[in-house]
Parts: sequence; C-alpha cells; structure tokens
Amino acid sequence: MHKDNQPLVFELSREGRIGYSLTDLDVPEVDLSELLPSSLIREEAAELPEISELDLMRHYTALSNRNHGVDSGFYPLGSCTMKYNPKINESVARFPGFAHIHPLQAEETVQGALELMYDLQEHLIEITGMDEVTLQPAAGAHGEWTALMMIRAFHEANGDTQRTKVLVPDSAHGTNPASATVAGFDTVTVKTASNGLVDLEDLKTKVGDDTAALMLTNPNTLGLFEEDILEIADIIHAVGGKVYYDGANLNAVMSKARPGDMGFDCVHLNLHKTFTGPHGGGGPGSGPVGVKADLIPYLPKPVLVKTEEGFKFDYDRPHTIGRVKPYYGNFGINVRAYTYIRSMGPDGLKAVTENAVINANYMMRRLEPHFELPFKQHCKHEFVLSGSRQKKLGVRTLDIAKRLLDFGYHPPTTYFPLNVEEALMIEPTETESKETLDEFCDILIQIAKETEENPEIVQEAPHTTVINRLDETLAARNPVLRYTKA
Ligand SMILES: Cc1ncc(COP(=O)(O)O)c(C=O)c1O
Repeated sequence: MHKDNQPLVFELSREGRIGYSLTDLDVPEVDLSELLPSSLIREEAAELPEISELDLMRHYTALSNRNHGVDSGFYPLGSCTMKYNPKINESVARFPGFAHIHPLQAEETVQGALELMYDLQEHLIEITGMDEVTLQPAAGAHGEWTALMMIRAFHEANGDTQRTKVLVPDSAHGTNPASATVAGFDTVTVKTASNGLVDLEDLKTKVGDDTAALMLTNPNTLGLFEEDILEIADIIHAVGGKVYYDGANLNAVMSKARPGDMGFDCVHLNLHKTFTGPHGGGGPGSGPVGVKADLIPYLPKPVLVKTEEGFKFDYDRPHTIGRVKPYYGNFGINVRAYTYIRSMGPDGLKAVTENAVINANYMMRRLEPHFELPFKQHCKHEFVLSGSRQKKLGVRTLDIAKRLLDFGYHPPTTYFPLNVEEALMIEPTETESKETLDEFCDILIQIAKETEENPEIVQEAPHTTVINRLDETLAARNPVLRYTKA
C-alpha cells in the first residue's frame, strides 16, 4: 500500500507476475538477425519489471498524486500565471481532425487546422494591436529570441550594424538578458526608480545610436504598470531602436490595453500562461510573436496565408530569419489557446483581466500589515512582498516558502525580482475563489506570527512532507537522475 506521507516503494516486481496480454501475431514473425546487425541484438531478455496492471496503475497514480498542480491546489507562483486550464480545451485538442493529423500532410488535406491557426493569428493580432503574428516559437524565451533576431535583421538591412546593445530593466525576467545574449547582443541594464518603474533619467543616459532595442514587460515584474510607457517608447524610437514587449504578463492587461497602442514594435505571448495552455513540468508551450509592419519581412518562414484557393504556407520570403522551429509551432497548445479565446469571447477576456487584478490587490492589502510591501501603489496581476522584517528575526523567505508546504500550498516565487530583498512574488490569477485567497492569506499571516513567537517551526519546515528540507544546491549541482536498484 502507498501511504501519502511515506516514501514510495519502487521495487514492486515479482517473478512471473504479468500485467499485459498481447494478441496473437497477425503478421509473419521476423527473424531479427535479418534486420539488425548481431551486435545490436540482445543475447538475454531485458530485465523488465514484472507487475500486475493494478499495482502498476496504483504506482503511477501515487506518483502523480505527489505532484502539485493547478487541479490539486492553489499555485500562486508569481510571473508564471498558474491559472486553471479549462477542460473544454482538452476536449477540442483531442478532436481526431486536430490530434491525428501530421505536419507533413499536404496542405489541402488539413485546411481546417490551417484555418484554426490563421484565425488564432488574427485574434492575437487584435489582442496585441500588432500587424502580423507568427505561431512558430515554442515558448516565451524562444519568442523573445525570435523577435530579437528579426530586430537584428531589420537593423542589418538598414546598414545599422553598430546597433549591438539591448537595454533591459533590472526588474526584467531572466530570460530577457539571456535571449539578447543568445541573439548576439550586449545587454545594458536600466535601473528601477524608487517608485518601482523604469528610471527615465537612467534610461536617457544609456540610449544612443548603438541601441538595437529595449525589452520591457508591462506591467513589469514587480506587478506595476509602466505609466511612462509612451515616453519610454519615444525615447527608444528617437534613437532608431525598437521596443520589445515581453507579453508574459499580458494576463494583467488583456482586452484593456494593447502593446501595439503603447508604442511597442513587437511582442511575444505565452499561450501556455495567459491563454490557458497547461504548463509547469517542462512544457510544451507556445510563444507566438507579433510584429508591426516594418518587421513583417523578417518573420520566420513559412508564413501562413489565406488565398482564394484556401490556406497555404508561403516560403517565398527573401528577408526571413528562417525557420525557428520544425513544422509550424506547437499546434496542440495553439488549439487550446484558440478554444480559450473563442469560449471566453471579448467580454470574458476583459473580465479575466479585471479579476486577475482585483484578486492581486485584495491579497496585497490583506498581507500588507504583516510583511514589508516595497511599492505601495495598486498592483496589476501580481505583487511583490519583502521578507526583510522576518529576516531580522532569523527567518528567511525560503523558510516561509517551505512552511507553506506544510499546509499543502505551492509557495509563491521567491528571491525574484532581484531588486527586492527576500522577495516573495504572488500571482493569484483570476480563476481562484475569494475563499482560497483568504485561506492562503490566513496561513501567510499565521507564518508571520510564528516567526515572531516560534521561529524554529518556520526555520525547520517542512514538517509534514515525505522529504524534509532538501539541499537544493547539491541537488542542482549533483543531480541523481537515474533510478538504481538497491
Ligand atoms: C516575464 C516573463 N518573460 C518571459 C518568460 C519566459 O517564458 P517561457 O518560460 O515560456 O520561456 C517568463 C516565464 O515565466 C516570464 O514570466
């Protein structure tokens, strides 16, 4: 028997026990030696586990129960938008006409799938205020890199090869400077002012004719709306640079404000966040990129076009940066995002934004008396607390995160953004009820009290999980990825 609070038993094999029964062969048996070189043929049968179907099922169910997911509990991981993924998305993604087609099929046999992709692009164009969208990039960071490669191609085509610098605010998501570096640019950090927004004076000293682009997410990773966005875009455009929108935070502004109207030249979206593609555990994601007209020639090829004869892929793109992904993107995630957009409708998407912002502000104000709140203004879809008060009492943000596990909650993002000491970044999302938000706040308030009265219980947490405090550095540096029989 598996017990929830006991380590899992992996040695379940018993000689002779079987969990399968194959039907008789209905094709002639093949002599392997005619197909494979003898060095590749096993001399002895592989030592595979022998286990009944029921025990196997229980094993995997027990393993899956140990995962924390949105379907099992609150997941307020800031910057990650761990919102509920409606099950209608799954039903539609499983339609045989979507699930059983192959990307190498002739275009005329998959017109429905192409129409869905085209339509999704049109919706994303409308939502972002851009002129064209590609669905190819596999996730957010890949979208960032794709857009930066287009910006690079644009500057090179204009003979502006001296534009080697990409400006990135110090509150940016780590993928921004990483993507800029991989795209061959040098990154220049722009400071955050005391109000949590881009420091305009610092920005002005850093722009010049070597500026290729500024990367910005709005709201920024402190959950604050960059109120000076129009001026920021003007500053960059005045020196000939492009303004890039990291759209991972679109959940805060969708259907209310559009990057294209804020002066941005290109944007990536995380369909696996805002548009309810499932994520966590490694993907797959989808990171479409939208661009304004002057970047269209550089879009990855092929570009999906609508013609009188139907939908087609256009490969005749002389200025393209090339393909960025085999085939045409992660189609299954795009089907889910399309289903979400169509099932919500424009008013539904607007309500998403409003509720995401209200939920975050509600929690922020409930927690404000108990934790340091570095930026006092209203937030958008997420907010950042500082554990600096607790740190003075010997309790670190990491301890608070671990203590939350005792109550069955996934902790918020910790130690990010880097410009807040002992950061605790909370993104509740719009899909949670007031009861859940209150329960979570009550527990965080309890932990703040424990920190004052009985800090050891927080410092030594977690107490109720199968494994207590892990040495995370050791686990990262020396991962044990293979199961070896005892
Ligand atoms: C603000 C921001 N930008 C970019 C990314 C990168 O997206 P992805 O993980 O899909 O590569 C994330 C992911 O969390 C993010 O929060």
